[in-house]
This record gives sequence, C-alpha cells and structure tokens, in this order.
Amino acid sequence: MCGIVGVVGDDFKVFDVVDSLKRLEYRGYDSAGVAYIKDGKVLIFKSVGRIDVLRGSLGEHLKDEISVGIAHTRWATHGSPNDTNAHPHTDCTGKIAIVHNGIIENFRELKAFLEGLGHEFRSDTDTEVIAHLIEEEYKGDIFEAVLNAVRKLDGAYAIGVVHSDHPDTIIAARKGSPLVIGVGNGFSLIASDITPMLRYTKDFIFLEDGDIALLNDKGVKVFRMDGKPVDRRIQRIDLSESAAEKGGYKHFMMKEIMEGPQTLVSAMTGRIKDGYVKIPELEELDLSKITRINVVACGTSYHAAMFFKYFVEQHTDVDVSVEVASEFRYRKPHIDDKTLTLAISQSGETADTLESVRLAKRLGSNIIAITNVVGSTITRESDISIMMNSGPEIGVAATKTYVAQLTILALLGLQLIRERGFWSGRHKRILDNLIRMPEIFENVLSLSDSIRALAEKYSRYEHFMYIGRGYGFITAMEGALKLKEISYIHAEAYPAGELKHGPIALLDEKFPVFAISPSDSLYLKMKSNIIECKARDAKIISVGTSGNGELFDISNDVLFVPRVADELYPLVMAPVIQTFAYHMADIKGYDPDKPRNLAKSVTVE
Ligand code: F6R
Repeated sequence: MCGIVGVVGDDFKVFDVVDSLKRLEYRGYDSAGVAYIKDGKVLIFKSVGRIDVLRGSLGEHLKDEISVGIAHTRWATHGSPNDTNAHPHTDCTGKIAIVHNGIIENFRELKAFLEGLGHEFRSDTDTEVIAHLIEEEYKGDIFEAVLNAVRKLDGAYAIGVVHSDHPDTIIAARKGSPLVIGVGNGFSLIASDITPMLRYTKDFIFLEDGDIALLNDKGVKVFRMDGKPVDRRIQRIDLSESAAEKGGYKHFMMKEIMEGPQTLVSAMTGRIKDGYVKIPELEELDLSKITRINVVACGTSYHAAMFFKYFVEQHTDVDVSVEVASEFRYRKPHIDDKTLTLAISQSGETADTLESVRLAKRLGSNIIAITNVVGSTITRESDISIMMNSGPEIGVAATKTYVAQLTILALLGLQLIRERGFWSGRHKRILDNLIRMPEIFENVLSLSDSIRALAEKYSRYEHFMYIGRGYGFITAMEGALKLKEISYIHAEAYPAGELKHGPIALLDEKFPVFAISPSDSLYLKMKSNIIECKARDAKIISVGTSGNGELFDISNDVLFVPRVADELYPLVMAPVIQTFAYHMADIKGYDPDKPRNLAKSVTVE
C-alpha cells in the first residue's frame, strides 16, 4: 500500500517531509522518494530500499528550506521495485512532479496516445502517464491541468502534484484510494492517512471520491470533478501516532479485516469489462485448451485453492486437483504440458510452494502465480503473475489477502466458465454479487461488536469443532486455522458429513460446534448435522443467511450474513470467522498480530 505525504507552508525543510514519510513506514514499501521546488526547479531524489537510503542520498539537501514538497513510499504494482519506478514521477519538461497511490486501468491506452504526441517515458509505471497527461493539459493553470488530466483516468488514484511555476501549491485528488488533508495555521498537508500529520495538526479534511483540492499559502479549497467548489467538514481528531497507524484499531489484524471492501475493489479493478471478466494478465493464455488445473498452496492459500476447485468443477468440465505444497513437492504427480498449474501464495516466498512450482515446470506445466508481492520469487519463476493488489499485510495471520485470493479465484473461475462456453444467467448473477461485495462486506463488518460479545461468552472453552458442507467446509477449515493460530485454542474442521465417521465422539457440552450453515443447496443436510451435534450436548454457534429464523431453534447462538450466490459464501463469511478468532485472541490477552511460532513468510521447509 503506497504512502503519500505533502507539505505547503513556509516553515518546512526537506527533512520534515522525509520524517513524515517515515511515519508511513508501517504500511510497507519497497522504494521511496521526495520532490520539492528550489530556485524555480523541481528536485527529485528517489531510491529503492528503506527511507534511510533516501535520507543518505539527500545528505545536505535535508536542510533545504522549502515552500512545497511531496514524498512517497511505493509498493510496486506496475513495474519492478527499482530507482526509476520509484515515485515521484515527472513529465518531459521536468517541471511537474507527481506521487500516486492506486492503479490506472487505462494507462496503456493513455501511454500509447501520449507517445504518439511525442512524450518520452522513463519508467514502467502507470503513474508516469499522469505526469505527461498533466503536461499536455497545462496552459498556465496547474489546477485546471490536473483537473482535466484526472478526468481522463480510469481506475483508482490518490495523487499529489507540484509544478515548478507554482512553488506554493499542491494539487491533490482522490478516487478509490485514500487521501487526507491536514489543515494548519499558515500551512497545509496531505497524506494517505492522518498518522504523519498528527505532529502538526489535529484538524483534517477527509477527501471523498471525486474530490480535487487546491492547497496553497491561502489555505485549502476542495472541488468536485465538474470543477464546482464543495464544502468539506474539518474534523478534529486527537489520536496518538501509534493508534493512528493502526487506523484507530488496537491491532493491525483488525485494521486489515476492516480493509475488506477496499481489498475487494483492488482485486477486481481492471479485471471486469463490459459485463464479463477479462483478466489482462491472461491475454496470451487460451483457457479453452486446458484439460486440467493443478493448484499448489499452503495454509490459508490452500483453503482459497479449495474454493477454486469446488467452483470450477461445479461450473465447467475442467478437473482441478488441489494439493498442499509440502506434499506435492515430494510426490510423482501426473501432470504435463496440458495441465495448468496455479500457485497461490500471498508472500510469493513460501518454500514449499516454490518447490512445487519448480517441479510442475520441469514436468512441462504452464505456471500462473497469484500473489501479493511484486518481484517476489514466485513472480520471477512463473509464466504469468496475477497480483492481489491488497497492499502489505502486517498481521501475521492472512486476513485481507485471503479475501483477495478468493476474489481473484472467483474472477478466474468466471473467466474460465465463459471461455469454455458454460456462461449463463447464473454466472452473471455471481459476477453481479461479486461487484456488490464491497458494499455487502460493510454490512458484515458491522457485526464486529456482536462477535466480540460472542467471543466473550465462549472464551473459556478449550476446543472447537468447525463444520460445513460444500463451500461451507472451506469456511470451516479457514475458521479453525484462524482460531488455533492466533488464540491457541484447539480447533478442528470437518466436512459435516464426516462427523459420524469418528469425530462426533469428541463432542459434549465442553466442545462447541461452529456450524457454517448458509441457506444454500446443502442447508437441509447441514441442519441434520447440527441437530446431531446438539443431541451430544454440544453448544452450537451457527453462521447462516439473514432471514433464516429456523437456526435459532437448533443453535445456541446465531450470526447472520446477507444472502449471496451459494458460491460466494466463503467470501462473505470470511470476516466473520476472522473477527471471531481475533476477539478470542484479544480477550485471552494474546497479540493477534504476532502469533507465537509463526512467520509471515515461511521461507524454509
Ligand atoms: C494463516 C497463514 C498461513 C499462510 C501460509 C502460506 O493465517 O497466513 O497459513 O497462508 O503460510 O503463505 P503464503 O500465502 O504466503 O504462501
């Protein structure tokens, strides 16, 4: 997740801008840069690596007094992490500098258009297009130029722009990516969140999508994209910096669960066109020729892979085999050049998944990686990489990246369904549900307080059984993993129909059952399983579909999510099981962000 800061005012030095940027380090980044205006010229310093490297390259320039400055931490999406791709980016004249967070979907078309007009590009980024577009629009009024340029952009952006002819002005705009303005006495600030600005002010304007702001020595003015001024309320926020970097939450894990709607948007951006899924990264691949798909992954990524198997096999003629990578790598799998291998890894560095990729490659399989880290080993060793675009996940347990994986796998499944000739009204409804999912998620995330109360009630239990059928089993597996890894409570996951083949012997009043019971095609079977568990005196917590009052009769506690297509319940229920595990860990006094014995990237066997 890139970070932006910017200052306008008389009392700043370059040091202040870099120091503010440092306060966004917690968001994660691979490179950093700063631009400011001195003696009528834009000066830019940027480098791959830590902000301290940037500081080193600035040297004495840190003491430069400035009236305007912008800076950026980059988390690569377009183009690998290197000095050239680091922000700020500039136009052909070098008079404009821009920092950007987000993804410009139509950057290829815009770049071709601008190259046709003679603009020369230096980086592989989508951001540089905006600088050249502003240059093209510039007729002496920088605000007008930025306004006209951003009107041509599709996708998501938060930007800060400076121009050497306007040494006391920043233009800021947002659509889909966060940007906040700090309002001070004689100065104004911008940043991706309030954390780096809290040292200077407690007064903030939260820009809304489609806002564009003019910050100069006279203060801040906000406009809409039609150029009309708009009044945005100044909000006073008195938070500490450490609370602010977690978005006001106690832990990163909760902040990252709450980022679900944005995660969904980022995973879908640029991948749906004219009512169908079209993942640009797959352009060269003929999905109609594939006979089998082999998926390798570990942990949470493995659960996302299981979702893909259920979905694709239900709706197409393609067989999907899913295997835990640590097993796959030592087997003699029957795959060949007609088998597509999908490797799912948020970190892109999991040793077992990488070895599985290498094995599948030796056997002739084409490899698609789904990952969150640009430039990670998996992206270098795979034929195609589909990026999750979730921004860094700081909590060790996967939460928002699981949401992104499910989203991308649903998109991939839908593209496969269409390209293999199985598309129907039902698939259109699934896609419509997916598009509405960010809004549906808001509703589910509002359950956090009731889930906290539930966790309080059950925090003394030492064992939990998670059960589900079909897609519900995927949620059960992920729910049990989340609970055990952060709250250290013993949790097992079983397909509900398996219970009577052994595990039901465990159940009694001390062994609650978390029953994943959406109103889908297998609900009646689930209901029988719940009744069987209840007959063994187990307490039942059901997660069902809103409106299913029957669940109250057979359960001790019920949580509801909105009705969605059967296939999408793993997505809509993900925040429920994650939030339950989070509150259990917090109530028991554990730090959910740093569970014992676990690492974010498992780079050893
Ligand atoms: C669970 C979790 C792990 C990872 C697993 C694979 O919350 O985070 O189970 O899912 O270690 O990691 P990646 O996806 O990086 O390959």
